[in-house]
Amino acid sequence: MTERRVIVKVPASTANLGPGFDTLGMALSLYAWIELAASEDETVINLYGSGLEGVPRDKSNLIYKVAQLVFKEAGVAVPELHISMYSDIPLTRGLGSSASAIVGALVAANALIGSPLTEDRLFQLATKLEGHPDNVGASLFGGIVVSAWDGTRAEKVRLEPHPELEVLVAIPAFQLATEKARHALPKEIAMGDAVFNVGCSSLLVAAFASGQLELIGHAMRDRLHQPYRAAFIPGMAEILEKATEHGALGTALSGAGPTLLALVEASSPRKDELEQFLLATLRREGIEAKTLWLKPCAGGPEVTTLVRDEVVPAFMERIKGEVKA
Ligand code: HSE
Repeated sequence: MTERRVIVKVPASTANLGPGFDTLGMALSLYAWIELAASEDETVINLYGSGLEGVPRDKSNLIYKVAQLVFKEAGVAVPELHISMYSDIPLTRGLGSSASAIVGALVAANALIGSPLTEDRLFQLATKLEGHPDNVGASLFGGIVVSAWDGTRAEKVRLEPHPELEVLVAIPAFQLATEKARHALPKEIAMGDAVFNVGCSSLLVAAFASGQLELIGHAMRDRLHQPYRAAFIPGMAEILEKATEHGALGTALSGAGPTLLALVEASSPRKDELEQFLLATLRREGIEAKTLWLKPCAGGPEVTTLVRDEVVPAFMERIKGEVKA
């Protein structure tokens, strides 16, 4: 049995960034922590913090199942585990909580058995589990990740986020299941809309890569998914249309929503105005929301490996200084 104990800190992510549906992702400075150790007897799963109440504590738990997938791939058996998790990433809000759990579990399980699987293998597994590479790519590699998946293999390029980029998110006080938000999308789209998105997504990537932040507003527009999802988030259409008039570089639905995201220049004097515009527009529609100012997270998961019986502080004691709660 492995004598290691592993703690992984993994970032949240935002997917699509407007036009890059299932393709673009950015890691965010909001985190989940997962601890994994082999257990000599039964599996024990401890979940800390609010928001994880409904998450299973038996072997149907996603982290347990993903860890077992890693062990199977590597040809080792670690049937019983001690799992602890704390997350600041709200569930089902479009901030990649499930992708963070998948990536955190893959990285932690791999580290627990001496990292036999490559990072690329983990990316392929994560993409298959999630069904698209955008959130998992961002959580695994950090920064801005541009990826394409053909159903068999995902390739990616990671871009360094511009140091002036900040991210304002408005997180509505209701959940929206990704499945429901994907179900609202049409089976077919018009050629004109496809061409529009190819242009915007390509321009957005080029703007990020070249540091031309002033192009973000023009590029961060979408006709593939946001118009069809707007009905779930009253106020969203107005925010996407007008936030640039209130100091945003560009705005998008974060992933499948309901969180809305604005990219902002760190030195902008209009941050308060923008935040109030988002909150007031949602409130007018009867939606309470919480705003957070985040940064793109440049790095992927941070792994701490301990010898299992080393005298170390308990999980929550160890991460206490870093969590938001
Ligand atoms: N690209 C995905 C979507 C992200 O928009 O449905 C959410 O998982």
